[in-house]
Amino acid sequence: MYRIESQLNIHSPEFLANREAFLGILNEYRDRLKLVRLGASPLAIQKHVERGKLLARERIDMLVDPNTPFLELSALAAYGMYENQFPSAGIITGIGVIHGRETVIIANDATVKGGTYMQETIKKHVRAQEIALENHMPCVYMVDSGGVFLHDQANVFPDKYDFGRFFFNQARLSAERIPQIAIVMGSCTAGGAYVPAMSDETIIVKNQGTIFIGGPPLVKAATGEEVSAEELGGADVHTTISGVADHYAENDQHAIQICRNIFQNLEAKNRQILDIQIPEEPYYDPKELYGIAPVDLRKPMDAREIIARMVDGSRFQEFKARYAPTIITGFAHIMGFPVGIIANNGVIFSETSLKGAHFIELCSFRKIPILFLQNVTGFMVGKEYERRGIARDGAKLVHATANTRVPKFTVVFGGSFGAGNYAMAGRAYEPRLLFMWPNAKISVMGGEQAASVLIQVKEDQLRLQGKVFDAVERETMRSSILAKYEAEGSAYFSTARLWDDGIIDPTDTRKLIAMGIAMSLNHNYPDPQFGVMRM
Ligand code: COA
Repeated sequence: MYRIESQLNIHSPEFLANREAFLGILNEYRDRLKLVRLGASPLAIQKHVERGKLLARERIDMLVDPNTPFLELSALAAYGMYENQFPSAGIITGIGVIHGRETVIIANDATVKGGTYMQETIKKHVRAQEIALENHMPCVYMVDSGGVFLHDQANVFPDKYDFGRFFFNQARLSAERIPQIAIVMGSCTAGGAYVPAMSDETIIVKNQGTIFIGGPPLVKAATGEEVSAEELGGADVHTTISGVADHYAENDQHAIQICRNIFQNLEAKNRQILDIQIPEEPYYDPKELYGIAPVDLRKPMDAREIIARMVDGSRFQEFKARYAPTIITGFAHIMGFPVGIIANNGVIFSETSLKGAHFIELCSFRKIPILFLQNVTGFMVGKEYERRGIARDGAKLVHATANTRVPKFTVVFGGSFGAGNYAMAGRAYEPRLLFMWPNAKISVMGGEQAASVLIQVKEDQLRLQGKVFDAVERETMRSSILAKYEAEGSAYFSTARLWDDGIIDPTDTRKLIAMGIAMSLNHNYPDPQFGVMRM
């Protein structure tokens, strides 16, 4: 494979100015991350620690194999929402390695409103289970939760992907022979009781873990019976009388050790074989991505410059290099794993779609995972393009993206607008992981275009009524739409609502995609199967 020859001058004023602007964005991201990792109020943390409990992230650190990374998902979930009262949405999720097995870990943070679940907490929990299912990874639930956040019950209780989905998922995961292990390290109330009750094996911590369908106040209200939490559903009761839990632990550390021991006796699995090479650093320094990451989305940039700083040896076997240059396709290795890369290099035309769809077919038949690098304004519009059938050709790319059965990974490094988001494996197209760079933007169209469309519609309406849209009103409308799109299009707005799996530092992209491919190997990739592609 040939090395990409970078055309970039890393000493040019444009590069340095972009780098300067990007570092400002990156520092803001790091500050926000630091803030949520501090957790909830110091008082709640103090209360938790005084009870002899480890904090959620400490529990995870102790659970995973020493010196292995934990891929935390959606750390900034619920950021900027609910007056920031739910750091990380009160739950830590991610992928860690336990006795050499990639595992999905879901840990309640009891210092955030008693570890209760509001909408984003639930989305995060369900998303982690979805990742476990797609990649056949065991789940460990570190439970310490008061169940539903009762103030928000209408948003968390009844719908298909609400609280009840956890237990449905556990049953389905177990049926797929994906191990489900619970460690009860605190409260497990009401519906929450089903997390340990539906696990394959459950550990409970003495004088700390409780499991009950109704807590003492509810029991008193319902039947008049007065009972302590420990008598109702403590570790002694559940490991000696009810049998709801299987293992009795002295404290958090002991419970975590029991969980690790359980992993020594899980079923061995067939893994997908890939042609893995010896990992190699990119020839071009990944830190140069800071000078390239599109801060001003209107400026054109060559996506090969991004790829060169992401793949092993900066080597790239480009496919159809001379055809449809607004999409770059080709093969590379990332930390030794083979990967097919599809990167936007401008607007999508008919031929762009055909090239992308063809390349997806290649990856699907060769069973090579695909990395989508998004920086897309959407599909080309206009009479000429409609007549040439851009809708039909675009549909081929959308079809191929939807139906490929090799793992997809998506990174939004610039803009993600319009149907380009779909064709390039946006959230609805089930990439195994989807990350945003902190400069990234996502919305149905850019703010300027949305303002123009809506002003045009308004003007047409007023014209029919014999009125005119005066300049001041038009400007007010334009600036309010621009402000709305600016706020709603930001990576933070997206990540707070779980439209992605997290915002990442561009230099971490390589490592995270490699971890994603590693986790995908837990299950054989199915043979390709496409439907009718309109020709
Ligand atoms: N819904 C909404 N808020 C809840 C809640 C719930 N289910 N459970 C706890 N909270 C809130 C408390 O109001 C408090 O909020 P604040 O910090 O704004 O004052 C915060 O969470 C911490 O609660 P607190 O009781 O002080 O913490 P704790 O660590 O001593 O106890 C629980 C935590 C979860 C064991 C305890 O609060 C509890 O039993 N909650 C009720 C659980 C329940 O019955 N759930 C049924 C839902 S299906």
